[in-house]
Amino acid sequence: PDTISVEELSNRLALKATELIKQLFKMGVMVTKNDTLDSDTATLVVEELGHKVKHVSEEALEEEVLAAEKPQGEAVARPPVVTVMGHVDHGKTSLLDYIRKAKVAAGEAGGITQHIGAYHVDTDNGTLVFLDTPGHEAFTAMRARGAQVTDMVILVVAADDGIKPQTMEAIDHAKAAEVPIVVAVNKCDLPDAEPEKVKQEMSQHGLIPEDWGGETVFVNLSAKTGDRVDSLLEMVALQSELLELQAVAEGPAQGIVIESKLDRGRGPVATILVREGRLHQGDVLLAGPEYGRVRALVNEYGDNVEDAGPSMPVEVLGLSGVPEAGDDAQVVTEERKAREISEMRHQRAKEQQIAANKRAKLEGMFEQM
Ligand code: GTP
Ligand code: MG
Repeated sequence: PDTISVEELSNRLALKATELIKQLFKMGVMVTKNDTLDSDTATLVVEELGHKVKHVSEEALEEEVLAAEKPQGEAVARPPVVTVMGHVDHGKTSLLDYIRKAKVAAGEAGGITQHIGAYHVDTDNGTLVFLDTPGHEAFTAMRARGAQVTDMVILVVAADDGIKPQTMEAIDHAKAAEVPIVVAVNKCDLPDAEPEKVKQEMSQHGLIPEDWGGETVFVNLSAKTGDRVDSLLEMVALQSELLELQAVAEGPAQGIVIESKLDRGRGPVATILVREGRLHQGDVLLAGPEYGRVRALVNEYGDNVEDAGPSMPVEVLGLSGVPEAGDDAQVVTEERKAREISEMRHQRAKEQQIAANKRAKLEGMFEQM
Protein backbone atom coordinates (compact mmCIF):
# COMPACT_ATOMS: atom_id res chain seq x y z
CA PRO A 1 0.00 0.00 0.00
CA ASP A 2 0.93 3.60 -0.47
CA THR A 3 2.23 4.55 2.96
CA ILE A 4 5.48 5.84 4.34
CA SER A 5 6.91 5.95 7.85
CA VAL A 6 7.61 9.32 9.44
CA GLU A 7 11.21 8.32 9.77
CA GLU A 8 11.59 7.35 6.15
CA LEU A 9 9.87 10.48 4.94
CA SER A 10 12.19 12.61 7.06
CA ASN A 11 15.15 10.76 5.58
CA ARG A 12 13.96 11.37 2.08
CA LEU A 13 13.40 15.04 2.84
CA ALA A 14 16.80 15.27 4.53
CA LEU A 15 14.96 16.69 7.51
CA LYS A 16 15.22 15.82 11.21
CA ALA A 17 12.37 13.58 12.26
CA THR A 18 11.55 16.00 15.09
CA GLU A 19 11.12 18.81 12.56
CA LEU A 20 8.77 16.72 10.51
CA ILE A 21 6.81 15.68 13.60
CA LYS A 22 6.53 19.34 14.60
CA GLN A 23 5.17 20.24 11.18
CA LEU A 24 2.67 17.40 11.35
CA PHE A 25 1.64 18.54 14.83
CA LYS A 26 0.90 22.01 13.41
CA MET A 27 -1.36 20.33 10.93
CA GLY A 28 -3.12 18.50 13.73
CA VAL A 29 -1.53 15.14 13.11
CA MET A 30 -0.02 13.63 16.23
CA VAL A 31 2.61 11.01 15.45
CA THR A 32 5.89 9.54 16.57
CA LYS A 33 8.67 8.79 14.17
CA ASN A 34 7.69 5.13 14.00
CA ASP A 35 4.18 5.88 12.83
CA THR A 36 3.10 5.45 9.26
CA LEU A 37 1.52 8.19 7.19
CA ASP A 38 -1.00 7.59 4.47
CA SER A 39 -0.34 8.99 1.06
CA ASP A 40 -2.59 12.07 1.45
CA THR A 41 -1.08 13.15 4.76
CA ALA A 42 2.43 12.61 3.48
CA THR A 43 1.69 14.63 0.35
CA LEU A 44 0.16 17.43 2.39
CA VAL A 45 3.02 17.77 4.82
CA VAL A 46 5.61 17.65 2.08
CA GLU A 47 3.83 20.46 0.28
CA GLU A 48 3.46 22.43 3.49
CA LEU A 49 7.21 22.22 3.83
CA GLY A 50 7.55 23.77 0.42
CA HIS A 51 8.63 20.66 -1.43
CA LYS A 52 7.28 19.26 -4.62
CA VAL A 53 5.81 15.80 -4.35
CA LYS A 54 7.21 13.22 -6.67
CA HIS A 55 4.90 10.34 -6.26
CA VAL A 56 6.41 7.02 -7.18
CA SER A 57 5.01 3.92 -5.68
CA GLU A 58 7.63 1.20 -5.79
CA GLU A 59 5.25 -1.49 -6.83
CA ALA A 60 3.81 0.70 -9.55
CA LEU A 61 7.19 1.49 -11.01
CA GLU A 62 8.28 -2.13 -10.85
CA GLU A 63 5.07 -3.28 -12.45
CA GLU A 64 5.31 -0.69 -15.17
CA VAL A 65 8.89 -1.60 -16.00
CA LEU A 66 8.33 -5.32 -15.91
CA ALA A 67 5.22 -5.08 -18.06
CA ALA A 68 7.16 -3.12 -20.65
CA GLU A 69 9.89 -5.75 -20.70
CA LYS A 70 7.68 -8.75 -21.43
CA PRO A 71 9.22 -10.86 -24.16
CA GLN A 72 6.86 -10.95 -27.09
CA GLY A 73 6.42 -13.35 -29.93
CA GLU A 74 5.75 -16.99 -30.46
CA ALA A 75 6.68 -19.54 -27.84
CA VAL A 76 9.06 -22.23 -29.03
CA ALA A 77 10.23 -25.51 -27.52
CA ARG A 78 12.73 -25.15 -24.68
CA PRO A 79 14.93 -27.68 -22.87
CA PRO A 80 13.71 -29.14 -19.58
CA VAL A 81 15.26 -28.06 -16.31
CA VAL A 82 15.92 -31.24 -14.36
CA THR A 83 16.78 -31.11 -10.68
CA VAL A 84 18.74 -33.98 -9.20
CA MET A 85 17.73 -34.70 -5.62
CA GLY A 86 18.26 -37.42 -3.08
CA HIS A 87 19.83 -38.44 0.18
CA VAL A 88 23.37 -37.42 1.03
CA ASP A 89 26.05 -39.56 -0.64
CA HIS A 90 23.62 -41.45 -2.83
CA GLY A 91 25.55 -40.27 -5.87
CA LYS A 92 23.88 -37.16 -7.31
CA THR A 93 27.08 -35.33 -8.13
CA SER A 94 28.74 -38.51 -9.40
CA LEU A 95 25.84 -39.06 -11.76
CA LEU A 96 26.03 -35.51 -13.09
CA ASP A 97 29.80 -35.74 -13.39
CA TYR A 98 29.46 -38.87 -15.44
CA ILE A 99 26.84 -37.32 -17.70
CA ARG A 100 28.96 -34.26 -18.20
CA LYS A 101 32.12 -36.17 -18.99
CA ALA A 102 30.36 -38.52 -21.33
CA LYS A 103 28.63 -35.76 -23.20
CA VAL A 104 31.19 -33.02 -23.37
CA ALA A 105 33.90 -33.21 -26.01
CA ALA A 106 37.32 -33.96 -24.61
CA GLY A 107 38.61 -30.55 -25.60
CA GLU A 108 35.94 -28.80 -23.61
CA ALA A 109 36.22 -31.09 -20.63
CA GLY A 110 39.46 -29.41 -19.62
CA GLY A 111 37.50 -26.20 -19.20
CA ILE A 112 35.31 -27.65 -16.50
CA THR A 113 37.16 -26.25 -13.55
CA GLN A 114 34.65 -24.10 -11.77
CA HIS A 115 31.99 -26.42 -10.65
CA ILE A 116 28.69 -24.67 -10.84
CA GLY A 117 25.69 -26.73 -9.93
CA ALA A 118 23.85 -26.01 -13.14
CA TYR A 119 24.66 -26.93 -16.68
CA HIS A 120 23.25 -28.02 -19.97
CA VAL A 121 24.12 -31.16 -21.88
CA ASP A 122 23.36 -31.95 -25.50
CA THR A 123 22.19 -35.54 -25.86
CA ASP A 124 20.91 -37.55 -28.80
CA ASN A 125 17.46 -36.77 -27.46
CA GLY A 126 17.93 -33.03 -27.25
CA THR A 127 19.34 -30.56 -24.78
CA LEU A 128 18.82 -31.15 -21.07
CA VAL A 129 19.60 -28.73 -18.25
CA PHE A 130 20.54 -30.12 -14.84
CA LEU A 131 20.61 -28.59 -11.39
CA ASP A 132 22.56 -30.35 -8.66
CA THR A 133 21.21 -30.32 -5.10
CA PRO A 134 20.97 -30.39 -2.11
CA GLY A 135 22.46 -27.89 0.18
CA HIS A 136 22.02 -26.00 -3.03
CA GLU A 137 21.04 -22.62 -1.64
CA ALA A 138 19.19 -21.93 -4.84
CA PHE A 139 16.83 -24.73 -4.19
CA THR A 140 15.98 -23.61 -0.69
CA ALA A 141 15.35 -20.08 -1.84
CA MET A 142 13.29 -21.23 -4.75
CA ARG A 143 11.26 -23.55 -2.57
CA ALA A 144 10.62 -20.74 -0.16
CA ARG A 145 9.34 -18.56 -2.95
CA GLY A 146 7.29 -21.34 -4.40
CA ALA A 147 8.87 -20.66 -7.75
CA GLN A 148 8.76 -23.64 -9.99
CA VAL A 149 12.04 -23.52 -11.79
CA THR A 150 12.16 -27.29 -12.11
CA ASP A 151 10.34 -29.19 -14.80
CA MET A 152 11.32 -32.61 -13.59
CA VAL A 153 13.12 -34.36 -10.74
CA ILE A 154 15.65 -37.14 -10.94
CA LEU A 155 15.46 -38.83 -7.58
CA VAL A 156 18.72 -40.63 -6.86
CA VAL A 157 18.49 -43.57 -4.45
CA ALA A 158 21.48 -45.75 -3.65
CA ALA A 159 20.53 -49.39 -4.14
CA ASP A 160 22.67 -50.44 -1.17
CA ASP A 161 21.08 -47.94 1.19
CA GLY A 162 17.43 -47.56 0.19
CA ILE A 163 15.02 -44.81 1.13
CA LYS A 164 16.38 -42.31 3.66
CA PRO A 165 15.06 -39.07 5.18
CA GLN A 166 16.30 -36.83 2.38
CA THR A 167 14.84 -39.22 -0.16
CA MET A 168 11.49 -38.64 1.48
CA GLU A 169 12.06 -34.92 1.55
CA ALA A 170 12.86 -34.97 -2.14
CA ILE A 171 9.64 -36.84 -2.89
CA ASP A 172 7.73 -34.18 -0.97
CA HIS A 173 9.41 -31.37 -2.91
CA ALA A 174 8.67 -32.97 -6.23
CA LYS A 175 5.06 -33.54 -5.25
CA ALA A 176 4.70 -29.97 -4.04
CA ALA A 177 6.15 -28.72 -7.30
CA GLU A 178 3.82 -31.06 -9.20
CA VAL A 179 6.59 -32.22 -11.49
CA PRO A 180 7.31 -35.74 -12.74
CA ILE A 181 9.86 -37.86 -10.92
CA VAL A 182 12.26 -40.26 -12.60
CA VAL A 183 13.92 -42.57 -10.08
CA ALA A 184 17.61 -43.33 -10.63
CA VAL A 185 18.45 -46.41 -8.60
CA ASN A 186 22.16 -45.84 -8.27
CA LYS A 187 25.17 -47.92 -7.20
CA CYS A 188 23.82 -51.05 -8.85
CA ASP A 189 27.44 -52.10 -9.39
CA LEU A 190 27.79 -52.87 -5.69
CA PRO A 191 27.40 -56.48 -4.55
CA ASP A 192 24.94 -55.55 -1.83
CA ALA A 193 22.75 -53.53 -4.18
CA GLU A 194 19.06 -54.32 -3.83
CA PRO A 195 17.21 -52.40 -6.55
CA GLU A 196 14.03 -54.42 -6.12
CA LYS A 197 13.89 -53.44 -2.47
CA VAL A 198 14.15 -49.79 -3.50
CA LYS A 199 11.18 -50.25 -5.82
CA GLN A 200 9.21 -51.80 -3.00
CA GLU A 201 9.98 -49.01 -0.58
CA MET A 202 9.19 -46.39 -3.21
CA SER A 203 5.86 -48.04 -3.92
CA GLN A 204 4.93 -47.60 -0.31
CA HIS A 205 5.37 -43.90 -0.85
CA GLY A 206 3.19 -43.70 -3.90
CA LEU A 207 5.84 -44.09 -6.55
CA ILE A 208 4.74 -47.24 -8.32
CA PRO A 209 7.12 -48.56 -11.00
CA GLU A 210 5.82 -48.82 -14.55
CA ASP A 211 6.52 -52.54 -14.71
CA TRP A 212 4.32 -52.97 -11.65
CA GLY A 213 1.45 -51.17 -13.32
CA GLY A 214 2.31 -47.74 -11.98
CA GLU A 215 3.49 -44.58 -13.69
CA THR A 216 6.94 -43.95 -12.28
CA VAL A 217 10.00 -44.63 -14.39
CA PHE A 218 12.80 -46.43 -12.55
CA VAL A 219 16.26 -46.88 -14.05
CA ASN A 220 18.78 -49.16 -12.34
CA LEU A 221 22.21 -47.74 -13.04
CA SER A 222 25.68 -47.00 -11.81
CA ALA A 223 27.12 -43.52 -11.82
CA LYS A 224 30.51 -45.11 -11.22
CA THR A 225 30.63 -47.38 -14.27
CA GLY A 226 28.15 -45.35 -16.29
CA ASP A 227 26.04 -48.43 -16.83
CA ARG A 228 22.54 -47.47 -18.03
CA VAL A 229 23.08 -43.77 -17.58
CA ASP A 230 22.13 -43.44 -21.26
CA SER A 231 18.78 -45.09 -20.52
CA LEU A 232 18.19 -42.56 -17.81
CA LEU A 233 18.86 -39.67 -20.19
CA GLU A 234 16.55 -41.21 -22.74
CA MET A 235 13.78 -41.53 -20.16
CA VAL A 236 14.25 -37.97 -19.02
CA ALA A 237 14.12 -36.73 -22.59
CA LEU A 238 10.98 -38.78 -23.27
CA GLN A 239 9.24 -37.49 -20.15
CA SER A 240 10.15 -33.95 -21.04
CA GLU A 241 8.71 -34.32 -24.54
CA LEU A 242 5.39 -35.15 -22.93
CA LEU A 243 5.52 -31.88 -21.02
CA GLU A 244 5.73 -29.89 -24.28
CA LEU A 245 7.76 -27.18 -22.61
CA GLN A 246 7.77 -23.84 -24.38
CA ALA A 247 9.00 -20.32 -23.90
CA VAL A 248 9.39 -17.14 -25.87
CA ALA A 249 13.02 -17.21 -26.86
CA GLU A 250 13.56 -13.61 -27.98
CA GLY A 251 13.11 -10.25 -26.34
CA PRO A 252 14.15 -8.97 -22.91
CA ALA A 253 15.29 -11.88 -20.76
CA GLN A 254 13.64 -12.87 -17.53
CA GLY A 255 15.19 -15.44 -15.21
CA ILE A 256 16.16 -16.44 -11.72
CA VAL A 257 19.41 -16.30 -9.77
CA ILE A 258 20.48 -19.82 -8.89
CA GLU A 259 23.95 -19.09 -7.54
CA SER A 260 25.99 -16.02 -6.73
CA LYS A 261 29.35 -15.10 -5.33
CA LEU A 262 31.89 -12.33 -5.06
CA ASP A 263 34.86 -13.34 -7.18
CA ARG A 264 38.12 -11.67 -6.31
CA GLY A 265 39.13 -11.11 -9.90
CA ARG A 266 35.78 -10.81 -11.63
CA GLY A 267 33.67 -9.03 -9.03
CA PRO A 268 30.06 -10.03 -8.39
CA VAL A 269 29.13 -13.14 -10.35
CA ALA A 270 25.57 -14.42 -10.57
CA THR A 271 24.47 -17.61 -12.27
CA ILE A 272 21.17 -16.87 -13.94
CA LEU A 273 18.80 -19.46 -15.29
CA VAL A 274 16.99 -17.79 -18.16
CA ARG A 275 13.28 -18.54 -18.17
CA GLU A 276 12.07 -16.41 -21.07
CA GLY A 277 13.53 -14.13 -23.69
CA ARG A 278 17.21 -13.89 -24.48
CA LEU A 279 19.95 -12.45 -22.34
CA HIS A 280 22.67 -10.65 -24.30
CA GLN A 281 26.03 -9.26 -23.46
CA GLY A 282 25.55 -5.52 -23.03
CA ASP A 283 21.99 -5.82 -21.66
CA VAL A 284 21.11 -3.97 -18.47
CA LEU A 285 20.11 -6.63 -15.98
CA LEU A 286 18.26 -6.13 -12.73
CA ALA A 287 18.87 -9.05 -10.35
CA GLY A 288 17.17 -8.74 -6.99
CA PRO A 289 18.37 -5.41 -5.60
CA GLU A 290 21.42 -5.29 -7.89
CA TYR A 291 21.73 -4.14 -11.45
CA GLY A 292 24.37 -3.57 -14.07
CA ARG A 293 25.28 -3.76 -17.71
CA VAL A 294 26.24 -7.32 -18.57
CA ARG A 295 29.98 -7.20 -19.17
CA ALA A 296 30.33 -10.87 -20.02
CA LEU A 297 28.29 -14.03 -20.14
CA VAL A 298 30.12 -17.24 -19.31
CA ASN A 299 28.66 -20.69 -19.76
CA GLU A 300 29.17 -23.57 -17.38
CA TYR A 301 32.17 -24.76 -19.36
CA GLY A 302 34.02 -21.50 -18.91
CA ASP A 303 33.40 -20.20 -22.43
CA ASN A 304 32.28 -16.68 -23.13
CA VAL A 305 28.94 -16.64 -24.90
CA GLU A 306 27.07 -13.80 -26.56
CA ASP A 307 23.62 -14.71 -25.38
CA ALA A 308 21.56 -17.24 -23.46
CA GLY A 309 17.98 -18.32 -24.19
CA PRO A 310 15.29 -20.16 -22.20
CA SER A 311 16.38 -22.82 -19.68
CA MET A 312 20.05 -21.92 -20.13
CA PRO A 313 22.19 -21.30 -17.07
CA VAL A 314 24.81 -18.62 -17.53
CA GLU A 315 27.20 -16.65 -15.37
CA VAL A 316 26.68 -12.92 -15.51
CA LEU A 317 29.49 -10.44 -14.88
CA GLY A 318 28.98 -6.73 -14.42
CA LEU A 319 26.42 -6.45 -11.62
CA SER A 320 26.73 -3.76 -8.96
CA GLY A 321 26.63 -6.30 -6.16
CA VAL A 322 25.88 -9.91 -5.33
CA PRO A 323 22.18 -10.83 -5.54
CA GLU A 324 20.77 -13.77 -3.61
CA ALA A 325 19.90 -17.18 -4.92
CA GLY A 326 16.21 -17.17 -5.67
CA ASP A 327 16.13 -13.50 -6.69
CA ASP A 328 14.37 -12.63 -9.90
CA ALA A 329 16.46 -11.35 -12.77
CA GLN A 330 15.06 -9.12 -15.47
CA VAL A 331 16.45 -7.18 -18.38
CA VAL A 332 15.47 -3.53 -18.20
CA THR A 333 15.93 -1.53 -21.37
CA GLU A 334 16.45 1.81 -19.70
CA GLU A 335 19.41 1.81 -17.36
CA ARG A 336 17.94 4.72 -15.40
CA LYS A 337 14.87 2.67 -14.49
CA ALA A 338 16.98 -0.29 -13.46
CA ARG A 339 18.98 2.00 -11.20
CA GLU A 340 15.83 3.48 -9.69
CA ILE A 341 14.37 0.09 -8.87
CA SER A 342 17.72 -1.07 -7.55
CA GLU A 343 17.87 1.93 -5.21
CA MET A 344 14.33 1.32 -4.00
CA ARG A 345 15.06 -2.30 -3.28
CA HIS A 346 18.22 -1.43 -1.40
CA GLN A 347 16.28 1.17 0.58
CA ARG A 348 13.57 -1.33 1.37
CA ALA A 349 16.12 -3.91 2.50
CA LYS A 350 17.77 -1.32 4.73
CA GLU A 351 14.46 -0.40 6.33
CA GLN A 352 13.66 -4.03 6.95
CA GLN A 353 17.08 -4.50 8.52
CA ILE A 354 16.58 -1.50 10.79
CA ALA A 355 13.16 -2.75 11.83
CA ALA A 356 14.59 -6.19 12.56
CA ASN A 357 17.39 -4.69 14.63
CA LYS A 358 14.88 -2.65 16.60
CA ARG A 359 12.81 -5.69 17.31
CA ALA A 360 15.88 -7.61 18.44
CA LYS A 361 16.90 -4.74 20.70
CA LEU A 362 13.44 -4.52 22.23
CA GLU A 363 13.36 -8.22 22.85
CA GLY A 364 16.77 -7.93 24.50
CA MET A 365 15.44 -5.21 26.79
CA PHE A 366 12.51 -7.32 27.84
CA GLU A 367 14.79 -10.20 28.61
CA GLN A 368 16.81 -8.00 30.95
CA MET A 369 13.74 -6.76 32.79
P1 GTP B 1 25.89 -35.04 -1.46
O1 GTP B 1 26.07 -33.98 -2.51
O2 GTP B 1 26.82 -34.90 -0.32
O3 GTP B 1 24.47 -35.19 -1.02
O4 GTP B 1 26.29 -36.46 -2.12
P2 GTP B 1 25.99 -36.96 -3.58
O5 GTP B 1 24.65 -37.55 -3.63
O6 GTP B 1 26.33 -35.93 -4.56
O7 GTP B 1 27.00 -38.20 -3.69
P3 GTP B 1 28.40 -38.24 -4.45
O8 GTP B 1 28.18 -38.21 -5.91
O9 GTP B 1 29.29 -37.24 -3.87
O10 GTP B 1 28.84 -39.72 -4.12
C1 GTP B 1 29.03 -40.18 -2.80
C2 GTP B 1 29.94 -41.37 -2.81
O11 GTP B 1 29.34 -42.47 -3.49
C3 GTP B 1 31.26 -41.13 -3.52
O12 GTP B 1 32.29 -41.75 -2.80
C4 GTP B 1 31.08 -41.80 -4.86
O13 GTP B 1 32.28 -42.24 -5.42
C5 GTP B 1 30.18 -42.95 -4.52
N1 GTP B 1 29.34 -43.36 -5.64
C6 GTP B 1 28.51 -42.59 -6.36
N2 GTP B 1 27.90 -43.29 -7.30
C7 GTP B 1 28.33 -44.57 -7.20
C8 GTP B 1 28.06 -45.78 -7.91
O14 GTP B 1 27.27 -45.85 -8.85
N3 GTP B 1 28.70 -46.91 -7.48
C9 GTP B 1 29.59 -46.89 -6.45
N4 GTP B 1 30.15 -48.03 -6.12
N5 GTP B 1 29.86 -45.77 -5.78
C10 GTP B 1 29.25 -44.61 -6.14
MG1 MG C 1 26.72 -33.85 -4.34
